[in-house]
Amino acid sequence: DHAKLITHALAKDTLSKLRSVETEQVAFRKGLVKLGRICGYEIIDGEMLTEFVAIETPLAETTGERVTGLDDVVIINVLRAATPFVEGLLKAFPRAKQGVISAGRDEEAGMNEDGEFPISIDYVKLPEITADDTVIVADPMLATGSTMCAVLDHVLEDANDPEDLFVLSALSAPAGLIRVDEQFPEATLLTVAIDEKLDEDGFIVPGLGDAGDRAFR
Ligand code: PRP
Repeated sequence: DHAKLITHALAKDTLSKLRSVETEQVAFRKGLVKLGRICGYEIIDGEMLTEFVAIETPLAETTGERVTGLDDVVIINVLRAATPFVEGLLKAFPRAKQGVISAGRDEEAGMNEDGEFPISIDYVKLPEITADDTVIVADPMLATGSTMCAVLDHVLEDANDPEDLFVLSALSAPAGLIRVDEQFPEATLLTVAIDEKLDEDGFIVPGLGDAGDRAFR
């Protein structure tokens, strides 16, 4: 699948606040939570099915509409910047199972000639993933895509081909989207914005800076 933009006006509004250098730590973290919630609602609205069910109100019988598969959602938190983002997603998917992966770029090694960073993975704890599951791998930033590809290798290692696989980022660079799409064509890439480029240090430009540092510093 190719990248799909999350176009909700409040998503764009919140991302714009995150971009601003004036937004300090607490507001930045809250903005990531808010953006996660909006993205969760947008995934439900745009990517999930509903079914009609018989319900009984206190007064009469009628037909209601429920979202299918809300009990079969797995959210993967890519530490550390994804933590507030995932907190927001959980408001849309309160019964989701959660996995955690600590993955980071080896900034000292730098970008190789293919535009990739070596990734060190320090901790992996994943729930069982079944064929009925909708898996959402969340990381606010998709820059070179090196981190996401390393994460997806782990996530899919023991998984039984999940029903849906979403890679959700707030902000992406074209190179990262292309890399993840090439290596994981089964994934649907969702992002609020695609920025122009990466700088020589592999930072998204104009971007929003270092999301982990801005949220946790
Ligand atoms: C950032 C971001 C992604 C990664 C994206 O994390 O949260 O995980 O970089 O870069 P890539 O697409 O080029 O791999 P970072 O390594 O700064 O770790 P942090 O979340 O702990 O700050």
